[in-house]
Amino acid sequence: MDTVQKVDVILDEKIGVISPYLHGQFAEHLGELVYPGLWVGENSSIPNIRGLRKAVVDALEPLHLPVIRWPGGCFADGYHWRDGVGPRNQRPLRVNYYWGMAPEPNLFGTHEFIAFCRAIGAEPYFTGNVGSGSPQELGDWVEYCNFAGDSSFSALRHANGAAEPLGVRFWAVGNENWGCGGRMDPETYAATFARTRTFMFNYSGTNVHAIACGASGPDWAWTRRVMDYLKNKHWDRLGMMQSLAAHYYCGSAGTAIEYTPDQWLELLSKASAMEGIITGHRAVMDEFDPQRHIKLIVDEWGTWHPVEQGKPASGLYQQNTMRDACAAALTLDVFNNHADKIFMANLAQLINVLQSLLLVHEEKCIATPTYHVFDLYQPHRGAQAVRCVANAETVSDGGASAIACQEQYADGHFPGLKIVQGSASVKDGNLCVTVCNTHPTQPVELEIDVHGTNLDEAEDIRLAHDDVHAHNTFDNPNEVSLSRPERLMARDHILRVALPAASVLRVMGKLN
Ligand code: AHR
Repeated sequence: MDTVQKVDVILDEKIGVISPYLHGQFAEHLGELVYPGLWVGENSSIPNIRGLRKAVVDALEPLHLPVIRWPGGCFADGYHWRDGVGPRNQRPLRVNYYWGMAPEPNLFGTHEFIAFCRAIGAEPYFTGNVGSGSPQELGDWVEYCNFAGDSSFSALRHANGAAEPLGVRFWAVGNENWGCGGRMDPETYAATFARTRTFMFNYSGTNVHAIACGASGPDWAWTRRVMDYLKNKHWDRLGMMQSLAAHYYCGSAGTAIEYTPDQWLELLSKASAMEGIITGHRAVMDEFDPQRHIKLIVDEWGTWHPVEQGKPASGLYQQNTMRDACAAALTLDVFNNHADKIFMANLAQLINVLQSLLLVHEEKCIATPTYHVFDLYQPHRGAQAVRCVANAETVSDGGASAIACQEQYADGHFPGLKIVQGSASVKDGNLCVTVCNTHPTQPVELEIDVHGTNLDEAEDIRLAHDDVHAHNTFDNPNEVSLSRPERLMARDHILRVALPAASVLRVMGKLN
């Protein structure tokens, strides 16, 4: 393989403005995420801010996360919001029947979640209960949160400590209603969506952004049949839907911390196949909504490894290595390259569950390699995405990736994983290019060719480690962290960078 690999940035090919909501997160009542990840309670010996784990708030504040999805996931379609408001010592104890029959004390409910969002500066995104709830129940929750006038629900909210409306815009109408959310067929869901949505009103200046349940991975038929029903079944009801949310997980190759070079490549190939998922669903949506009034969301994505030994199977706890970091980088780059098609995305999940940003144990809280990728990619938010083409070699794992990834593409063809892949954006005259070296052992001499301008210099920050299995632990929390910024000189319009194997790079520079 040639060690010189190239990425071309074409400034006049504008894709669209990168929605800041692409960096959203997901927090479900699952395993250790809420209890004790987010919520330790006011009387805990663990430092807290009115019950919220302080170390989590402190760690997340600098990420400026745009939006958090809550309370599920599968949990949402069994959740009754009234259980989670009012005096905490009077809230009912329920069974979290999706996740290990764990006790659900309802200590963390609507107001605690809003307090958490406010503490970290994120917008709330609520998933409504459609599977076991009623249109009335979900409509009441919207009114409780958003109505400023006189009503029993606004009075109840006031009595529960919030005189002003909570201003919740994002509402999902169910979760995975093809599965844990009610085992519905697409037409049943579409009819249920329209019925439920009818009772979700815009109150007091907060317009509901209703998010319909989308497909699991490449289930194009779900998307087509839901859209078709709403558009063509007697009346055109498509306008009731503001977004459609697909889910896509990268199933593990190996375990979270043990994998071969081929398994490394297989997982990263799956991450890069997000390309096929977005392109495929957007194409179907465009057939019914050519003006693109309806937005595409991926409100669950990430890597899904076998549960760590010694942890309960239902808790979905996994470590997070350089491989997960590269998977996150590749996925965020795919989102940027489809800035015209995708509006929001939510990594699954925030703490101690699946591909988390943070891991907590007792009073300790550490940032994962994936956390550092979200930190590195912050400058892309709200920037104009421009075309970024990897003129680089394809890496191979002997064919397993092609087989694992072909179904994510509507034409059944996986184009392959390039040794370098990335994205580029411009904001306020500053160029930001992010690139992942996807190879587990091969360093490259990377050339970033910025067509259409000259650059004098740039700043280089990277996430890299000699060991592809590297991860942070409670004893060694900074094993993987971002490098210090270095100055990089450009010659004409080309930046040359030595990029280690298995690494993520960000370069930023002022355009002339
Ligand atoms: O993120 C874990 C689970 O995965 C969610 O609860 C569900 O929506 C999905 O199947």
